Amino acid sequence: MVLRMKYIHVGDVLKGEMEGKTVMLRGWVHRIRKQKKMVFILLRDPTGVVQTVAKPKAVGEDVYADVQRMLIESLVSMKGTVKADPRAEGGFEVQIEEIRILHFAEEFPITENQSTEFLNDNRHLWMRSRKLTNVLKIRDEVFSSAREYLRKEGFYETTSPMFVSTMGEEGAELFEVEYFGRKVYLTQTSQMHLEPQLFAMEKVFILAPSFRAEKSRTRKHLTEYWHLEVEEAWCDHECNLKRQEELISFMCHSVANNRVDELTELGVDRDRLLVVNPPFDRMTYTEAIDVCQSEGLKIEWGEDLRTEAEHILTDDREKFLFIEYYPKEIKSFYMKNNEDDPRTYKNDDLLAPQGYGEMIGGSERETDAQLIIDNLNRIGDDPEKYKWYIDIRRYGSVQHSGFGVGMDRLMTWMLELEHIRDCIPFPRTVSRIYP
Ligand code: 4AD
Ligand code: MG
Repeated sequence: MVLRMKYIHVGDVLKGEMEGKTVMLRGWVHRIRKQKKMVFILLRDPTGVVQTVAKPKAVGEDVYADVQRMLIESLVSMKGTVKADPRAEGGFEVQIEEIRILHFAEEFPITENQSTEFLNDNRHLWMRSRKLTNVLKIRDEVFSSAREYLRKEGFYETTSPMFVSTMGEEGAELFEVEYFGRKVYLTQTSQMHLEPQLFAMEKVFILAPSFRAEKSRTRKHLTEYWHLEVEEAWCDHECNLKRQEELISFMCHSVANNRVDELTELGVDRDRLLVVNPPFDRMTYTEAIDVCQSEGLKIEWGEDLRTEAEHILTDDREKFLFIEYYPKEIKSFYMKNNEDDPRTYKNDDLLAPQGYGEMIGGSERETDAQLIIDNLNRIGDDPEKYKWYIDIRRYGSVQHSGFGVGMDRLMTWMLELEHIRDCIPFPRTVSRIYP
């Protein structure tokens, strides 16, 4: 009689509830150790790695010969009995009764001690590594927890075009695209196409790529990164900061609580995520300049806070830090004027602890069409190009605020990764567009 069995996952075996039972598994050969009388196969699927063992009597001489010539990353399915075995990694071994080799792999190019460059050239294969698998599973949690929080708070998820005709943030960072004989750009931010949508839905967000022609080769810059942008009506600067700290805290807790095994394998202390709670620390830009100057940094009021300043401000900090009210010269034309200090806008950057840098840029938005036109004229840009964007301020202009989270930056901090490219399946940087 043929047993009607279902495939289970390696993780089910490792949980320990399958001991003594006959199970069916399928996956890839992670490692293989060949001895005369038995072959140990470390079988991998998305949920983990388990030791399995094939012996000629159990699987048949012919099949055993095939097992003997199998290389790592071959694809197999098997039926076997689970035995507790303290010598096996994970504490269990599956004794194979039947095995089918579904695909004989060629010699796998990735072996131990290869250069970062080589691994990145082989990203399409390297993502099977335990490290990248764990990172990618956490990435899923980061993205889905953001959606969960925002939906729970009554936000609608929406979309926006990636081809745009106007600049969103800074001209120097635009990628130009040839578009039927015209020049258009890849969007640097979805904000400008998100704001009009809040007049329909009040609370909206987009999770999409943003493109920045960043020439800087740093650990923090991708040319294509994932940007979570949130826009909320009836919301002032205070409300905006509260939204940001609640969202980030929710995401950190979700990862800490729902990805325990992956964090453990990556060696990340869950506590660093669990202690993220509102309220975050706060400082004005002007105060931040004072702190940097008193630490001996050569920086004047009006200059942007760059890497060195970020280190001074956050290296010893345990909490996230909001920097509020930046000078108009270094921020964008759509931001709300700060009446208390008219040199500045009502905006914020959120800096991560330990020098990981800026995670969020946000602001209350200007609601007065004329003030936006004045700002554009001041920076020498043509208000005519932004007609549609300014238009929304002419029909029921509502107080609103919003922000953009660099999802890859946030993950880099969460997992203490060395480089931002380590958190994304196929990174795009100045020097990398393959694979
Ligand atoms: O501060 P930015 O430029 O803000 C905006 O684009 C606003 N329009 C967002 C909004 O209010 N809707 O970018 C937002 C965040 C930064 O704080 C940073 O975390 C991330 O995007 N970011 C990058 N991440 C990776 N690689 C890059 N090159 C990035 N540039 C910005
Ligand atoms: Mg910014």
